[in-house]
Formats: sequence, structure tokens, C-alpha cells
Amino acid sequence: MPIEPCTFVIFGATGNLAALKLLPALYHLEEDGRLPAGVKVLGVGRRDWSADDWRVEVEAHLATRARKGGLDAEVFARFRQRLHFQRGDLRQDADYAALRRRLDEDAALPAHAVFYMAIPPAEYAEVAQRLAAQGLHEQGRGWRRLVVEKPFGYDLESAQTLEQSLHRHFTEQQIFRIDHYLGKGTIQNILVFRFANLLLEPLWNRNYIDHVQIVHAESRGIEGRAAYYDGAGALRDMIQSHLLQMLTLVAMEPPSSLEGEALRDEKVKVLRSIRPITPSAVHDHAFRAQYARGAVHDESVRAYREEEGVAPDSLTETYAALKLYIDNWRWRGVPFYLRTGKRMATDSAMVSIRFKYPPQQLFRDTTMDRIRPNWLLLGIQPDECIRLEMQVKHAGLEMKARTTQLDASYCAHDDVKIDAYEALLLDVIQGERSLFLRYDEVEWAWRVVDPVLKVWNNEREFIHSYPAGSWGPAESARLFDADDQAWRNSVDKE
Ligand code: BG6
Repeated sequence: MPIEPCTFVIFGATGNLAALKLLPALYHLEEDGRLPAGVKVLGVGRRDWSADDWRVEVEAHLATRARKGGLDAEVFARFRQRLHFQRGDLRQDADYAALRRRLDEDAALPAHAVFYMAIPPAEYAEVAQRLAAQGLHEQGRGWRRLVVEKPFGYDLESAQTLEQSLHRHFTEQQIFRIDHYLGKGTIQNILVFRFANLLLEPLWNRNYIDHVQIVHAESRGIEGRAAYYDGAGALRDMIQSHLLQMLTLVAMEPPSSLEGEALRDEKVKVLRSIRPITPSAVHDHAFRAQYARGAVHDESVRAYREEEGVAPDSLTETYAALKLYIDNWRWRGVPFYLRTGKRMATDSAMVSIRFKYPPQQLFRDTTMDRIRPNWLLLGIQPDECIRLEMQVKHAGLEMKARTTQLDASYCAHDDVKIDAYEALLLDVIQGERSLFLRYDEVEWAWRVVDPVLKVWNNEREFIHSYPAGSWGPAESARLFDADDQAWRNSVDKE
């Protein structure tokens, strides 16, 4: 089906998300020849700018974000032709009316439109309501799509309220809820790895797997996002969305097809099977902490409470860990440990699956140490790899074992890395919905974390801290069910 030309409207065009993610992704699609010819980008912002003012601004941003070490003059010349600007205050109905006139009358702008909410989540409902008041949700002249970023809501109740207010005017087909992790090739690879290979399926259950770890560590701090982050924290920012999505892909049953709805049905079943954490169990299942001063990559960095815009007595967690049980036939009794943190020692996202010990300690009377269990490691970023750790005999006369890794790295270091937003923005333009969240996924994910958020919200005296540049507080080990379980920090041999 040919891709229809459309106007890609960005609310919050002068903000962080547009500069860091959306515009670079659109530019890279242009560079790769993937951005359909008729797509125009209309930035909406409060500044009194002409299209040319905005183009200069975008050029400056892109110069530092372009993938191949700088802007390609020819590519940018093509890209800049697509950029238009509309002055607009999101609180003023008159500005929405002006936007409507512009979309109706400006011959340079196609009638189909994407409205991308690159604005604080608290404003989604109001903007959607004001768009609708001007009839901008109606699909008479062309289709209309609304893109919302995570976090979808602030907790279970606010997610439900937001959902109701979006649905008052927009249909489910028009709403695209983004979780950018679903646009990552390495996340999609979890599905391919599981369902295109027969080998592991018989082992993929409680009989053979001791526990699963899903970890996202980043060395970055909050990068000027205090206004959002200090009210959110790591549990909302990463675990409710990205890490729980990863968990569903690791734990789900094979879907009946790769069709979006079939996949989402299976993911929701996983979320629904997660054992609810009761208030009295929160301490055993959840851990939070905040970074103190420290050094990251040899550079001293300030404490979270010293970041601009953060209250000096803030209790917001920048590190969160959670233990979950999936009470279904396949996973009953297998702990899933989720962990995320900012200002950690390094950048790393991975899924680590630890298998059980062999049932018989056959080598007990030899000089072999206790046999180490097998690990399967799925590197998400920056290492994109699959590694299986096995025990082999040490060369020599003695009966000794060592760990070796079967390595299936599937991305060479010089491969061009496609940003998740490129895939997702193209899907929005094409109306392809399978990588976007259905509301029930969001709601069930909130149900998982909501009891923890409530307890934390009431415990306002103390939060653990960890030096920036470390792997987080040792106390988080209290979540582990057994003494031989410990955080796995790297896909390399330990
Ligand atoms: C975002 C969070 O959704 O994901 C950020 O709001 C976080 O705080 C980011 O840094 C991590 O994404 P990635 O793709 O860099 O792992």
C-alpha cells in the first residue's frame, strides 16, 4: 500500500524530546531514503518563530546528534524543506483554531495529520480535549493520529482517567501509545530468539530456570529533566514501562500469530499473572535508592539532590529493584528480578537467565569446585549479543572445570545502529500499530507497581543512597530468594 503524505505535527517542538529523539529520527529516515516524499513536519511552539527560524534551530540541534558524525548538507537541504512552524500556546483555544485553519488551508501541508505529544504527560488530556474542541480529531478531510509518550498516567487511577479522556474524542485506532523499547531491534530479537529456535523451549520454564534478571543501568543522570523526573522516579520511569515490557516478551506463551493483537493478548496474560504485591510484602519485593556524589567515567558528578530543579530533601528514587513472581503453569516459583538505575557504573541493558544446578553433584569427590550453573545472557545494549555460559573441563590432568561462553553476537561494532524512534515514527506515519501499547497492557503494568508506589509514597523518612558511578547499594541484595543469587552486571564472563 502506498504511504500517504501527511503533516507530522509536533507539540513541544522546541523541547527536549523533539530535539533529542524526534527530529534526529526524522532526519535519519531522510538520510536513509525512508521518509515518504509527502511528509511535512509542523513544529508547534510558543516562540514567535518563522519556519526559517525553526530550521536554523533544528540544524544546530542535528549537527550534534547526526549519526554519521555531522550533518550531510545535501540531506539536510532536503529535510529543511519539510520543516514548517506554527506559533501556538497549548492553553489557548484560539491557537488550536489557527492550527486547524492552517491544516485546512495551507497547500504545503497534507490533510492527513499526526499529532505528536512531545509535552509533559500532565498536559495530554487537556491538549486532546482542546484539539477535539476545534474538530481536529475528526477524520473527514484526512486521517488523524494522536501519539502519546510514556508515562501514560502517574499511577493506576490517573492512567484510567487519562484513558477515558482520550477516548472521549479519539478512537483506539487513532491513539498510538509509545514505549520506545518496542522499537529496538534487540528487544524484538527476544521474540525471534524464543520462537524461531526450538532448542531452548523445553528448558524455558520453572523446571530448569532458577531465576531471571532484567536490568537497565545507565551512567547518565537526569539530564535537565528534573521537572519530570523528580515527580516520577525510577520505578515509574523505567520499570512500569520498558522493563515490564521486556519481562512480558521473556515470559509470554507463543502467540497464535505475529499479528499485533495476538502478541498483545499474550503479553497481557503475563502481566495479569504477576502475583500482586501486598502492602506488607513491599519491603521484601521492592528496593529504592538515590545517587549521592561520586565519579562516573572518572568525572566527578553531583548528587541527585544537588541537580538543578531537584528539592534538596527529595526522596525520589533513581534506582529501583523489584522481585516479581508470575503465577502461571510455566513460571510458578521462579523469581524475576528487575533493576534499573541512573548514574550507575556503566551503560548496560540485559536479560540474564540463570539455570538450575544439575540434579546430581557428580563431580563432588573430584578437585572440581562446585559446578557453576548455566547462564543465558541476552545483551540489549550496548552489546547486542546472545551468550550461553557452559562448564567445560580445564585442560590438564586434573578434573577441573571452567566457564566458557558460546557467543552469538549479532551486531558487528561498525553496524549502523538504528534508533528505536526511527522505526516507531515510520510506523505511525504508515498506520502500523503492532509496536504500540494497547491500553490494557498499560493498565496491568500499573497494577503491578501501584502497591509499591503507594507504600513508598507514605514512607517519607529515609531512602538508601549509592555513590554515583557504582552498581547501586549492596542492600538491594535483600530481594534475592537464595544466597547463591546475585546481580549480574555484565554479559562478559564473571
Ligand atoms: C526513557 C526514560 O523512557 O528511557 C529515561 O524516560 C531513560 O529516563 C531512557 O534514560 C532510557 O532509554 P534508552 O533507550 O537510552 O535505554
